[in-house]
Amino acid sequence: MNGTSSAGDEATDANGTPADANGTPAGGRATGVGVPAGIDPSRPSAARIYDYFLGGKDNFEADRAVAEHLLKLDPRTVEAVRENRRFLVRAVRHLVEDAGIRQFLDIGTGLPTQDNVHQVAARYAPDARVVYVDNDPLVLAHARALLSGGGATIVQGDLRRPDEILANPDVREALDFSRPVAVLLVAVLHFVADDEDPRGAVATLRDAVPSGSRIVLTHGTADGPYARGEESTEAYRKADRSLTLRSLDEISPFFDGLDPVPPGLTWVQRWWPERPYEDGDLRGMYAGIGVKR
Ligand SMILES: C[S@@+](CC[C@H](N)C(=O)[O-])C[C@H]1O[C@@H](n2cnc3c(N)ncnc32)[C@H](O)[C@@H]1O
Repeated sequence: MNGTSSAGDEATDANGTPADANGTPAGGRATGVGVPAGIDPSRPSAARIYDYFLGGKDNFEADRAVAEHLLKLDPRTVEAVRENRRFLVRAVRHLVEDAGIRQFLDIGTGLPTQDNVHQVAARYAPDARVVYVDNDPLVLAHARALLSGGGATIVQGDLRRPDEILANPDVREALDFSRPVAVLLVAVLHFVADDEDPRGAVATLRDAVPSGSRIVLTHGTADGPYARGEESTEAYRKADRSLTLRSLDEISPFFDGLDPVPPGLTWVQRWWPERPYEDGDLRGMYAGIGVKR
């Protein structure tokens, strides 16, 4: 791990994505955060693999080995990951500007990077509040060092135990559950296996928020012409999370009880509220936003 560089200094494009588009790590960050207790650098972590794809430096040799293997399977993985971040930025802007949402529960936050949710939200609504939830200790350490304050709260929690997240006093204090909340499940549900009841987790969260709330999700898939799903899943075997890629038909039920926001559940590259038929390299992830009835 190289924890002494500075991602905050990276140039970004219009979407807030690191300008270096060739997959080369473009910088880390100076957090003063070492390796927290309980971290096993030899065990690849989903958060750190993702950090590597985004050009961060909060990753270890074991993470980079998995990431490089995934890149060999499909060199466009970096672009798919960046498309996911671009979607997240578009989605937050849409939620604040078009839907009037001021409260966010971001589960599966990931390591801090460019354009974190509270920073994007604050651009359009300085009073927006964001609760970040993750279960990776390194994510929590960095998030506490870099993201807390300014409308952001960091909470340890596990998507597989949504009731505990909802009962957490810090969550209850930060968010008013009588007013709409956007629950962000961005690039995290594919780390919840079928036998861990991901649909139940989403339903619990949906039932806890009032009408007019939004559920936002992106989900990895092996649909599409170039995907090498089984090999990708295999690459995560030694990691801290298993990877369950799902088809469009398998992802659609996560929207039960929700009205999809146009353009509906579609390729992440195509989810643009104002121009839904963006062409591009359609692969990797589906994205959608649903409105609680
Ligand atoms: C691929 S990153 C996504 C980060 C961010 N949401 C984004 O899309 O840019 C997935 C994150 O989900 C977290 N995660 C995985 N399984 C989780 C679970 N069961 N509960 C909470 N967080 C989880 C990982 O630690 C990691 O930080």
